Amino acid sequence: MPNLKVLLSREQIQKRVGELGAVISRDFHGQPVVLIGVLKGATIFLGDLARNIALDATFDFISVSSYGNTKQSSGEVKLNKDVDNSMEGKNVILVEDILDTGLTMSYLVKVLAAHRPKALRIAALLDKSARRIQPIHADYVGFEIPDQFVVGYGMDAAERYRNLPDICVVEE
Ligand code: IMP
Ligand code: MG
Repeated sequence: MPNLKVLLSREQIQKRVGELGAVISRDFHGQPVVLIGVLKGATIFLGDLARNIALDATFDFISVSSYGNTKQSSGEVKLNKDVDNSMEGKNVILVEDILDTGLTMSYLVKVLAAHRPKALRIAALLDKSARRIQPIHADYVGFEIPDQFVVGYGMDAAERYRNLPDICVVEE
């Protein structure tokens, strides 16, 4: 049983997600937005972020997996589930739990850009920029974190711990 140490508390997360929602509401003032959640890790962040966005917002979801083991991206990304609706002419915000190597997000940006949205933005709760391989930049970042494996608030280790209210570091 690994030891879990709180890195970001539920209070810190709620405060920051509120701030991100306010910035997004300002940036897209008076316009509708589509929040696209990257399954499954971003679901809890999307739920909280959406409730802090005072705009006409709809949801969609996309699912990808990277080949290889769970903690290290191999670089090859596979699309498991595409968005349900066309994003042509829409204000799209890709909502992701964490940017790590950037391989997943650069793949998703290519997939979504092909829809020719009006705007395409990235909201990532966490950014481990030290591990970046693909130079991808999120428009809305919750927290910059060190190169440590984290779980909770939607994020998993082998599908476990997604329901933890705090974001924790796994110490094995
Ligand atoms: P990237 O393609 O390397 O940027 O990987 C991004 C994906 O890997 C994220 O959407 C997460 O699903 C997963 N991931 C990366 N780091 C962590 C972590 O510390 N905890 C849980 N999942 C992670
Ligand atoms: Mg993810």
